[in-house]
Amino acid sequence: MPTLVIIGAQWGDEAKGKIVDVLGAEARYVVRYSGGNNAGHTVVVADEEFKFHLLPAAILHESTVSILGGGMVICPKGLLDELRRTQERRAALGRLLVSPAAHVVFPYHRLLDELEEEARGANKIGTTSRGIGPAYEDKVARIGIRMGEFVRPERFRRRFCEVLAVKNRLLRMFGHEPLEFDGIFEEYSGYARDLASYVEDTDRLLQDAVDAGDRVLFEGAQGTFLDLDSGTYPYVTSSHPTAGGACLGTGVGPRSIDSVLGVAKAYTTRVGSGPFPTEQDNGDGERIRQQGNEYGTTTGRGRRCGWLDLVALRQSCRLNSMSGLVLTRLDVLSGFERLPVAVGYALDGSRIDQLPTDIEDLARVEPVYETLDGWPDDLQGARTLDDLPRPARRYLEFIAEFTRTPIAILSIGPARDATIVLRPDLIWG
Ligand code: IMP
Repeated sequence: MPTLVIIGAQWGDEAKGKIVDVLGAEARYVVRYSGGNNAGHTVVVADEEFKFHLLPAAILHESTVSILGGGMVICPKGLLDELRRTQERRAALGRLLVSPAAHVVFPYHRLLDELEEEARGANKIGTTSRGIGPAYEDKVARIGIRMGEFVRPERFRRRFCEVLAVKNRLLRMFGHEPLEFDGIFEEYSGYARDLASYVEDTDRLLQDAVDAGDRVLFEGAQGTFLDLDSGTYPYVTSSHPTAGGACLGTGVGPRSIDSVLGVAKAYTTRVGSGPFPTEQDNGDGERIRQQGNEYGTTTGRGRRCGWLDLVALRQSCRLNSMSGLVLTRLDVLSGFERLPVAVGYALDGSRIDQLPTDIEDLARVEPVYETLDGWPDDLQGARTLDDLPRPARRYLEFIAEFTRTPIAILSIGPARDATIVLRPDLIWG
């Protein structure tokens, strides 16, 4: 099983970065397939912390090739800054390649992200303000500028001139003054020169790698319920973080995916707006936030925290065809005497067992909880399942039984070695 997709099984921030870093060491290629620098992946190596927004979290492994796939939207300045910062700390990094099909994020996208949010008033999505939504809007409207044209100077000039005229009309509608061509074109032409050598036909490369049986790891960003189609629309991101997105965003067909691991926290968090049935806007939520240091890697915003929602998690397992779960941050729950987990929802007097598609219905559901015993022990030193206290093991069994999905890996701390592999057969086979 040489191809593995790692996705966020909840609303993002499930600690995918650490898992991609750990498994990326065993892969020949690590590929991001959706989103852009709205993502924030943290990797801890010894005492050093790295935060990646665009670079695949496996860039630290010299023998791994990191790929930014065609399904992404890329801020060139952000990418070059991140690359430089990482190179300053590590002389040797893995090779980086960028798909010519990935779209470029320009200053007007960021500006429009803010103006569109402002115009939404009380219905704000709470975006990361990185211009992600507007860049995907251009892609769907078929006027976006792709990496392949960005790095060809004459082509870039022509396309940028066309698109800026359209964007300036839009900016005027929002009451904003138009942007000047010259300054932005000059600045971005510099970025294009710096990035040109990274742009290569990665779809072809990956298809060949799959045929040759090389190990390829697809690194999801955000999470399942932020997916444009499968998530809690309209409070979603504008791309496809689900496992299906790995095919769309890289040129690899569905039958070439061997294994899907869904990363889920032992509780639930969400940033930005939108319904969150098990949210604890109270002392319990605050305690999870403090114990788990639940603040955004990209925006620094405090994350909304709540109990584990097994209704949502089971749905995520199904819609991603998940082979196994990677359960993270179990250690954060230490010290809670009781741990409620949602096993159903009540809506208008009936019990339902999955997320309603309608956002207003989802906002009205009342979770039905089953309460499990907590444990006082600090779990960070555990290195096998048997090192865990009995209630923690019961918590894991309950999750696997309810979701009908085995737990393949357990992460009980940020360090690489705070990882317990329970089912190696579900990873690379
Ligand atoms: P956007 O992706 O910036 O357009 O934001 C849309 C929604 O997705 C907002 O609720 C963001 O908070 C959320 N979001 C985007 N990226 C991430 C992420 O990496 N982790 C968690 N939430 C995210």
